[in-house]
Amino acid sequence: MERRTIGAAALEVGAVGLGCMPMSWAYSGSQQRGAESLRTVHTALDHGTTLLDTADMYGPFTNELLVGRALRERRSEAFLSTKVGLLVGEQHIVANGRPGYVKRACDASLRRLQTDVIDLYQLHRADPEVPVEETWGAMAELVSAGKVRALGLCAVGAHSRRGSGTGLHDGTIRQLERVQQVFPVSTVEAELSVWSAEALDALLPWCEARGVGFLAAMPLGNGFLTGTLTPGGGFERDDVRARHPRFTAEMMAANQRVVAGLRRVAARHGDGTTPAQVALAWVLSRGRHVVPVPGTKRERWAAENARATGLRLTAEDLAEVTGLPAALGSWD
Ligand SMILES: NC(=O)c1ccc[n+]([C@@H]2O[C@H](COP(=O)([O-])OP(=O)(O)OC[C@H]3O[C@@H](n4cnc5c(N)ncnc54)[C@H](OP(=O)(O)O)[C@@H]3O)[C@@H](O)[C@H]2O)c1
Repeated sequence: MERRTIGAAALEVGAVGLGCMPMSWAYSGSQQRGAESLRTVHTALDHGTTLLDTADMYGPFTNELLVGRALRERRSEAFLSTKVGLLVGEQHIVANGRPGYVKRACDASLRRLQTDVIDLYQLHRADPEVPVEETWGAMAELVSAGKVRALGLCAVGAHSRRGSGTGLHDGTIRQLERVQQVFPVSTVEAELSVWSAEALDALLPWCEARGVGFLAAMPLGNGFLTGTLTPGGGFERDDVRARHPRFTAEMMAANQRVVAGLRRVAARHGDGTTPAQVALAWVLSRGRHVVPVPGTKRERWAAENARATGLRLTAEDLAEVTGLPAALGSWD
């Protein structure tokens, strides 16, 4: 697999990562496919993927335990990314960016992941009660202590600010400018896909100009862009898509035109090329500092996604995908 260098610490990873979240959290059937999930991690590594993206919050905790188990014999082949700063409460998710907590959480993640060092430690969300410099300072001390190699910031929850009249990622960029004063940012993780391309406006250029890597979360549009979901099929209550405005039966039907465009491009490349691979190849084409982290718990899909790095989209393909109709159904 093609390799990409991301971030301030010149970290090298396989160009397509593996999002481990669906193995334990957020999607139907999570937690029910443990054995296959373990094999999925191995399949991804076998195909040249190195970046494994997890978080203490996924499960909570069970996703890190699973990744730690999967890597017992193969730790050196993986680039391990986990996150801190979000806790699952009784009723809702809460941020905690207090320095003492961050340090304890890191030790707990190291234990669950069965490793001495985390390659990339990401701040999942800034805590509104704690100046972000203080949280970031504690994370920087973990680098000095040799427990963490590099630091990243996540900006995935930005949809809640849509429609506020400001750029979607303005707040994230302000946060990035502040933490950069304390310790270099190696990566930013935010949503980027064919149907959610807002990061291209300001966030991606901000990263590119500063040598910061960009991890594209939800690059398959929560599975929609793969063309394997049936409108009206419904989702279990614990599936994030059950409450997502783009996943009502009506919006899924309306957004089929996006999938149809991906299918058209895939068909031109033959050899079983899939819409998922076209969606990932388009994300990869957005910059040499971009690494998509498609999530899956299935071996077959981890292999298919890894093979997207071999797909060379032409200028005509890229223009066609970029020009697909905007998706309907928003958080506004
Ligand atoms: N930093 C943050 O706050 C944040 C937030 C969200 C996500 N993330 C990270 O980003 C990663 C990716 O996001 P995501 O997993 O939510 O969304 P995604 O990658 O856009 O889509 C995941 C869904 O697509 C399905 N899928 C994957 N490959 C497929 C293929 N080739 N064909 C058909 N279906 C396929 C998966 O099914 P199965 O579940 O059945 O395998 C899963 O339901 C996460 O795993 C997580 O690591 C980070």
